[in-house]
Parts: sequence; C-alpha cells; structure tokens
Amino acid sequence: SDLSALHDTILTWYAAQARDLPWRRSPEAWPWPEVDRPWAVLVSEVMLQQTPVVRVEPVWHEWMRRWPTPAALAAAAPGDAVREWGRLGYPRRALRLHAAATAIAQEHGGVIPANLEDLQALPGIGTYTAAAVGAFAFGIRSAVVDVNVRRVEARLVTGAEHPAPSLSAAETRLAEELLPAGDREAATWNVAVMELGALVCKAKTPQCERCPVLDACAWVLAGRPAHDGPRKRV
Ligand code: ADE
Repeated sequence: SDLSALHDTILTWYAAQARDLPWRRSPEAWPWPEVDRPWAVLVSEVMLQQTPVVRVEPVWHEWMRRWPTPAALAAAAPGDAVREWGRLGYPRRALRLHAAATAIAQEHGGVIPANLEDLQALPGIGTYTAAAVGAFAFGIRSAVVDVNVRRVEARLVTGAEHPAPSLSAAETRLAEELLPAGDREAATWNVAVMELGALVCKAKTPQCERCPVLDACAWVLAGRPAHDGPRKRV
C-alpha cells in the first residue's frame, strides 16, 4: 500500500541519514552500563524541548556523568541541577527534572515507570515527554508529536506549509494512524519523522531536493504554496 511504501522509504532514509545521537542508542548498543537508559532518554527529551542538539549534547554528557540515575539527582540539591544546566536556557527545566527524579526515587523505588499513565503523573512531565520516554525508552506504541513531526505530517499529508500554532486532536489522530504496524517499526518511525523534519523538511528552508518522500508530498504536489494568513515569526 501507499502507507507501507511511505514507511519503508522513511525508515530506510533514517537508517542511512540519521545523526548518531547518544540518547538514541538501542539497549543492545548502550555503552554506559552505569547510566540508566530511560533516565538518559528523559533528561535528553527535557533538554531538547527548547534547546538545539549541538548545545544539549555536552550538558547531557555531564549530567549523565554526575547523575547517572534518578536517585543520584534526587540526592543532590535542586540548586546543583540548575547550576549544571549551564546555558541551555529556561532553567526551570532543571527543577522539573529534579522534581521528577525525586518522585521516581520516592514513589517508584528509583525505577522510571514503563507506562504512559505513570510517566504523565510525574511532576513536570507532560503529554509530549511521557510519549517520548514511553516510545524511545520502553518501545511503547505511541505517537510522539513534536513540532518537527507536526510540520512533516502537515506538508506530506494535508499540503499545508506549516502546522497550526497548537496541536489539535486531528493531528494526534493522524500521527497515530501513520504509525507502522510493528512495535519496533513504530518506535523508529517516531524518531525518523522527527529527524526528517530536523534535517530536511525544515521550517524556513525546506530541502525538498534531498527529501526521500518528495513524490508523495501533498505540499510539493500543490506547488509549495505559502501559508495564508499571518504567522508568528520565530
Ligand atoms: N532524538 C530523540 N528525541 C529527540 C528530540 N526530541 N530531538 C532530537 N533528537 C531526538
């Protein structure tokens, strides 16, 4: 079907083109036995929410060296977390991670819960972060919908240049419908679409000539129309 061809094409592109980012290593390839991998994923997702990968990477490594588990961070002072946040910006995120680590230590025996409901109930962890940790750390079948994913799916499927300012129920439903059938493929699909948005289907300068799904893209087929109506400049 068209959808399974789309899955194959994007998953093949990802296997060849993805950046080798440390928090994306599989459990089989995890090189730091002392570092709790779900914790590493959680910290990376909170850091990446408002900060680019290149700035996140060195701070993430330092956090993992210093606090390899939620219990280790929970035992530190909140001010140490803020100091080690460095120049990532929005330092309240460091306090949110400290609060989540404390709840994981006190209410979950130091083990990050492997289900979406308990993840979302952690302080400072919202729908996006719970879905990302569920999918990337535990392989839970769930659509991970960040702004890159929203933009790729808007262009590819609906032909709009940009997604609406805030996430709609229809977009979440579309993202769920687009997940491949296999759980492993679904987990990789989430990060593959995210990576396509980060590297190729960029907000301001889309690199359509490098896009593996150019010929299936509704926005390209429509002649890459500009958005209508005002749009916030970012
Ligand atoms: N890999 C997994 N999650 C990511 C994110 N939020 N940003 C960039 N790369 C990622």
